Amino acid sequence: MTNLPTYTQSGQTVTFDFATNLQLTVLTASIIHVFSDRGEPGASYAIEGDKQQPTAFTVTNQGDHYDLTTAELTVHLDAAEHVDVDDAAGHPLITAYRGNRQLLDKGVDKVHQRLVEAEGHSISGATVEDNRGYQVIEALAPDEQLYGLGDKPGYLNKRGYEYDNWNSDIPDAHLETFTKLYKSIPVLLGLKNGHPYGLFFDNPYRSHFDLGKESAHYYFYSAVAGNLDYYILGGASLKAIVTNYTYLTGRTPLPQKWTLGYQQSRWGYSASQHEVQEIADELEKNDLPCDAIHFDVDYMRGYRVFTWDQQKYPSGPGQFIAQLKRRGIRVIPIIDPGVKQDPNYAVYETGVKNGYFVKSPDGKLYINQVWPGNAAFPDFGRPAVRNWWAHNVKFLTDLGVAGIWNDMNEPASFKGPIPDNVVFSDQDRPATHQKMHNVYGHNMARATYTGLKAQQGKRPFVITRAAYAGTQKYSTVWTGDNQSIWPHVQLLIPQLCTLGLSGFSFVGTDIGGFGADTTPELLTRWIEAGLFSPLFRNHAAMGTRHQEPWVFGEPTLSIYRKYLKLRYRFVPYLYDLFAQETQTGLPPMRPLVLNDDQDPRNREINDEYMVGETVLVAPVVQQGQTKRLVYLPRGEWVDFWNNREYAGHQDIVADAPLAKLPLFVQKNTLLPWGPAVSHISDQPDTTMTFRLFGDHGTYDHYQDNGTDFKYQAGEWNGYHIVVDHDQVTVTLTHHGYAAAYATIRVALADRVVTLTYQPATKTYLEQA
Ligand code: GLC
Repeated sequence: MTNLPTYTQSGQTVTFDFATNLQLTVLTASIIHVFSDRGEPGASYAIEGDKQQPTAFTVTNQGDHYDLTTAELTVHLDAAEHVDVDDAAGHPLITAYRGNRQLLDKGVDKVHQRLVEAEGHSISGATVEDNRGYQVIEALAPDEQLYGLGDKPGYLNKRGYEYDNWNSDIPDAHLETFTKLYKSIPVLLGLKNGHPYGLFFDNPYRSHFDLGKESAHYYFYSAVAGNLDYYILGGASLKAIVTNYTYLTGRTPLPQKWTLGYQQSRWGYSASQHEVQEIADELEKNDLPCDAIHFDVDYMRGYRVFTWDQQKYPSGPGQFIAQLKRRGIRVIPIIDPGVKQDPNYAVYETGVKNGYFVKSPDGKLYINQVWPGNAAFPDFGRPAVRNWWAHNVKFLTDLGVAGIWNDMNEPASFKGPIPDNVVFSDQDRPATHQKMHNVYGHNMARATYTGLKAQQGKRPFVITRAAYAGTQKYSTVWTGDNQSIWPHVQLLIPQLCTLGLSGFSFVGTDIGGFGADTTPELLTRWIEAGLFSPLFRNHAAMGTRHQEPWVFGEPTLSIYRKYLKLRYRFVPYLYDLFAQETQTGLPPMRPLVLNDDQDPRNREINDEYMVGETVLVAPVVQQGQTKRLVYLPRGEWVDFWNNREYAGHQDIVADAPLAKLPLFVQKNTLLPWGPAVSHISDQPDTTMTFRLFGDHGTYDHYQDNGTDFKYQAGEWNGYHIVVDHDQVTVTLTHHGYAAAYATIRVALADRVVTLTYQPATKTYLEQA
């Protein structure tokens, strides 16, 4: 047996003297950083600031291993560098696999492989071991579920599948066979024999997860390069793991309230002012609430970013945007990273002059193609380039846009992939595309956020397609180019819930589907299924069948309208959930397992989700289905539509004709019930309503101006509402925002209680 290495301790870092040193740093009692320097310079893109808190821990020599123990976790480290982790009660969470990998044998020789591939099939999977970089192999227990990894398609429990982290623009229909999509969010959440843990691998290089596909006995992570750099996350529940992970990588900041409203989009609208005008008119004419229209690439002058084709906009873009704003509709233009190669175009010229674009290894400008044809790619890893980009954003904010949609920032390229050795910067240090690829979208979104914040003074609304762990601090995300197919309305549930588990709370899919032609039934089920997705946008590709709510006539239009109106009723609830999320990292839209990881049934539910703690959504995601099985978790439940009550922990059959989204509220819940509006106003609400489900309840409600950062200086109000034995009390628990509601209404089963604000005493009194 080999001897244990010696170690040195400096503050909360313990360095073990192996051939290559291994460091364990205690950040908090439940977050331990594992690091081994493999010569890769540079800091994390995911984690900003010092996350270490003074934490008590001990290191003890146990003869054949060391124990590093905090109040929450024990890390065992032996002479062979096996890292095992137990929780405080001694339950194993992470156990290094002691055996050798057994490569998956698909039983195919070279000749047959060629034959299979000749028809266009591919043989995937690590049939050959990749010996670059390093791998971390952990034992799998028979009862162990694995969650997380961001936008990867497929099911909630990712055990049994393999995934790659290499941000990719994938136009084909995303299915569970796809190992990668647009985002790299290398965080895993596990439940080993019911005990929760997390592992975050903070390495932007190309990496791979095999989650028990190769073998039922282990899962592994491998990266082609970079330091061994990962975080062990502990906590009493999956919720605590998410809270700890978002403590580390940051949380979605409080959004502007209107961003929770409905948004309409289609690639092609913005090619003419007239067409956008028509969309705004139709929305109004058809009584469809809406807060934003997105402007895809067509508004620009020849796809030149930070330009606007004036000819397509006779009123001038500024005037037109102002005109839409007066009608309650905000404008969100798209911005891609590729800058058109054109010596007569200021953005390109400035970029070239200052060396702001990435370069070929020979030092020449690197050019590939995107929408504008030949294009150069901003070197977003450099602070100076991010500042320049942030400054360019002013072109759009001066015109009055309300937010910016960042696309194609994997970065996508039409003329073959960007070679690994193209020179990108890692801060101010030369690095490679290989290293900076997965953080490209992250850095672009960050630059956009900085520009919007400085120029608007409001909470920036950025939407990005590509992302890395931690991008949630700067941007909302959507899931890219889905298609108008039933598997994609099914996918939105596990995919958005998985993003939520991976730190991304503000998420959405293209409602109705982006590619391919939707059907009236599919569009209807999509608006129902996605009703609580925080980003709530209908978007479609050019050349597909139109899918605005009115194009299919009745009954599609009326059903769609009914759900848009219902969404606006729930906006104050979603906003409250975001206010909580800034403190806890818990996403508004979440899988059942996040609310209760001890109910084994919750661990595999892919066709229901929850909104906060109390609302259960069970959409129909199959063509032609009009009834469905609904698993009601712990507690008692009230059918939202008819108040019928059900005990939890049972399966029920819910009626779900086309116009009905099965929706349940936990019994004895109070929910805020927003006003019936067509747009979310920046003016304070003078009245707020709460609705009781059951016969008693309490609720904490948050209010601020919904737009800027004044809430951070205390300008917000907190309300505590209690309904008990038919008595309603409202307490203003925090009063920092002057415009407290003048009237609060609480809808009970048989009457509405109205309370009015008494400014002198800052209390609410029931009106007789
Ligand atoms: C990409 C985006 C899509 C957009 C299109 C044109 O495919 O994912 O949303 O409409 O580019 O800009």
